[in-house]
Amino acid sequence: MVSACESAKYSAEEARRLESRLEAYSTIMAIAHELKHARRAVALTGAGISAESGLGTFRGRDGLWSRYDPAAVASIESFNQNPSKFWEFARDIGWKFLEAKPNAAHIALAELEATKHLHCVVTQNIDGLHQRAGNKNVIEIHGNIGRVNCTMCATTYATEKIVDSLVQQDVPTCQKCGGALKPNVVLFGEEIPKKTLIEAVKRVRSADVLLTVGTSLEVYPASSFPELAKENHAKVISINMERTRWDDFSDYQVHGSAADVLPRIVQAIKIGF
Ligand code: OAD
Ligand code: ZN
Repeated sequence: MVSACESAKYSAEEARRLESRLEAYSTIMAIAHELKHARRAVALTGAGISAESGLGTFRGRDGLWSRYDPAAVASIESFNQNPSKFWEFARDIGWKFLEAKPNAAHIALAELEATKHLHCVVTQNIDGLHQRAGNKNVIEIHGNIGRVNCTMCATTYATEKIVDSLVQQDVPTCQKCGGALKPNVVLFGEEIPKKTLIEAVKRVRSADVLLTVGTSLEVYPASSFPELAKENHAKVISINMERTRWDDFSDYQVHGSAADVLPRIVQAIKIGF
């Protein structure tokens, strides 16, 4: 039997849960309103949006960088010094990226673009899932694992077309010149291609709403984008599983899974709030 004291505690907990659900509900309604009236909403995404597609994030207790030292396996210096070790790491994590499928969060962003509530997606992700979900306007500031480049003659290969040599060769080489191949992703210590960076900054600067999704915003230049957007008086919205140090900076925050929250925003726009 539940004692009077326990039942009072239970109802206090219930009340708190209900209160936080109602708070999240009203924030979702407010975000829907902002997106509905935005002229140039830009989404800035990170690893968290792909978490429900089975791809791990980088930071945090179970993050990739808790198992690997990024300086040792994912820097341009480590690639140049020991490409074989780099490819061992790339093969270890790469297949998961190639096999992943878009989840409800990617699909929601594609729907926002299709219904003209989203101008473009600027992503730090290399998984290509935004395009596979249907987004047309995607700027990938850290590259895409679906392509591999020759470090000597710059020939680009579609990863899926050269899977055999990626599996068989210790360090896969270019069919034209024999140079070492490298996935078309930006490693630590490497510059983001100038054209891509200029384009991303331009979009963020001209946004009137910046929707950040599933990113800790720990890595430059993405970490500077909320401030850039604010210079244009954009509203900054953050959807993330946990708090980030940028939370106080944003106008709206929802803590939860992107795959749960984004479809609710799309739904709220649809019901004409
Ligand atoms: P992080 O791993 O730093 O952050 C991912 C964020 O997603 C965390 O704050 C999580 O709380 C949140 N998260 C986890 N699951 C989520 C879910 N289902 N829904 C919403 N949020 C969720 O990843 P990024 O910010 O993307 O760069 O990291 C940025 C860059 O650091 C990466 O592009 C990569 C990495 O080193 C390079 O490799 C150059
Ligand atoms: Zn080559």
